[in-house]
Amino acid sequence: MEFNVKSGNAEKQRTGCVVVAVFEKRRLSPPAERLDAASKGMLGGLIRRGDLDGNLGQSLLLHNVPGTLADRVLVMGCGRERDMGDGPYFKVIGQAMTALQATGSSDAVSYLTDVPVKGRDTYWKVRQAVVRSREALYRFDRLKSDKTDRRRPLKRLTLSVPGRKELADGERAVEHGMALANGIDLAKDLANLPANICTPGYLAEQAGELAKEYPVLKVQVLEQKDMEALGMGALLAVARGSQEPPKFIILEYQGANGERPVALVGKGVTFDSGGISIKPAQYMDEMKYDMSGAATVLGVMRAVAELALPIDLVGLIPTTENLPSGTATRPGDVVTSFSGQTIEVLNTDAEGRLILCDALSYAARYNPGAVIDIATLTGACVIALGQHASGLFSSQASLANELLSAGRYTGDRAWELPLWEEYQEQLKSNFADMANIGGREAGAITAASFLARFTKKYHWAHLDIAGTAWKTGKDKGATGRPVPLLVQFLLERAGP
Ligand code: BES
Ligand code: MN
Ligand code: ZN
Repeated sequence: MEFNVKSGNAEKQRTGCVVVAVFEKRRLSPPAERLDAASKGMLGGLIRRGDLDGNLGQSLLLHNVPGTLADRVLVMGCGRERDMGDGPYFKVIGQAMTALQATGSSDAVSYLTDVPVKGRDTYWKVRQAVVRSREALYRFDRLKSDKTDRRRPLKRLTLSVPGRKELADGERAVEHGMALANGIDLAKDLANLPANICTPGYLAEQAGELAKEYPVLKVQVLEQKDMEALGMGALLAVARGSQEPPKFIILEYQGANGERPVALVGKGVTFDSGGISIKPAQYMDEMKYDMSGAATVLGVMRAVAELALPIDLVGLIPTTENLPSGTATRPGDVVTSFSGQTIEVLNTDAEGRLILCDALSYAARYNPGAVIDIATLTGACVIALGQHASGLFSSQASLANELLSAGRYTGDRAWELPLWEEYQEQLKSNFADMANIGGREAGAITAASFLARFTKKYHWAHLDIAGTAWKTGKDKGATGRPVPLLVQFLLERAGP
């Protein structure tokens, strides 16, 4: 699907479909007014007769509207004009794309990007229109024999900007939106793939493919023997139960020269059965998305490489399965991490922090300006924040604020939870430097507090995405979050 921008009048568009907004109380948007005038009051007449009243989510498809050059007109209800904010805008954009696909149009011109959205400019509206339309188009049918759903007449969507002087902003917004959507789609595909396909080796191959497509990306994969030589005892303790060899994937992107890089560390547990501390059977299938942090890192690297951002970025992906077997780590085992600190594994299901702590220690090698880890780390975070916000923890207030603000800008929001010293108490062990679990209370925070012990050498933030990376229920599947938040954070670091 192709996107572009232009400015021009709705009645003059020679296209498969023109998309315009109508607000509650039957208020026509300016482009809808023009269609109404051109058709000698046809739109207004339909609205008066009650075919559409402008409520959010309503739509009406018209054919051969007189006085216009388009084959169809799609009228989208946008709710109350003064309530038009981020949420309703996302909803209308997504619904318009679904409605457009159901028509036979091969191209369309949308005026929804002309709707005023509180506090947002043309660049934001166009970029969001691209990202949210691509979201509505996404299908994961790679593993289905019948791909009839793939019939896609719609080839091109043109987004309206108010005037010629906004064209440059609009074009930049399309470019950014497309790169972001490509990153999101990559992250979704990887997390949707089942664990018998998406193994640690598969993730390493995908990193290799990405580096082939974008030669500015340099990839290196540490094998089990390399990790043994380095002494990554915590990561290896998780891998012990599985026949799949673990990998430690390193991606380096150099877009600026000699700056301190940002390092992204993604949890890559390709399947989390819990290990010997095995999980209940119900919903265990969903634990294939326990590599969503890794998928996020790959998605962000893809977007950054496509945009050729002037920053230095490192992606680190510790990846393994977590399975029970005769060779698996047992509850009570004590392991020595790459940092030298010893860990008593009281629960083998708290495996994410074990693989992350070794990767976080490794990140110090880059003298990074900031390190951000991304992990489906705790069920407790899902209980605390649900599916709407990722849990954010940080050792540095300004880094936390940058991430929170990037989340608000993209609608991929995060919410900060405390990392106070008092919580460290819960990780005390009688037999090692620390335990890998902190008891029933504040589970998301004690997990983050565990990681904090390995991140003293740099500014660090942790995103717990257990609730946001995946949707359960009828629309079960990966969301691609928090790729938008992180790409926005990096766009801002890259400067104007
Ligand atoms: N991958 C899970 C966390 C998770 C749970 C992600 C639900 C998505 C949905 C993680 O490895 C885990 O099992 N965490 C345990 C920690 C506990 C043993 C301290 C949990 O949250 O129950
Ligand atoms: Mn687990
Ligand atoms: Zn896990």
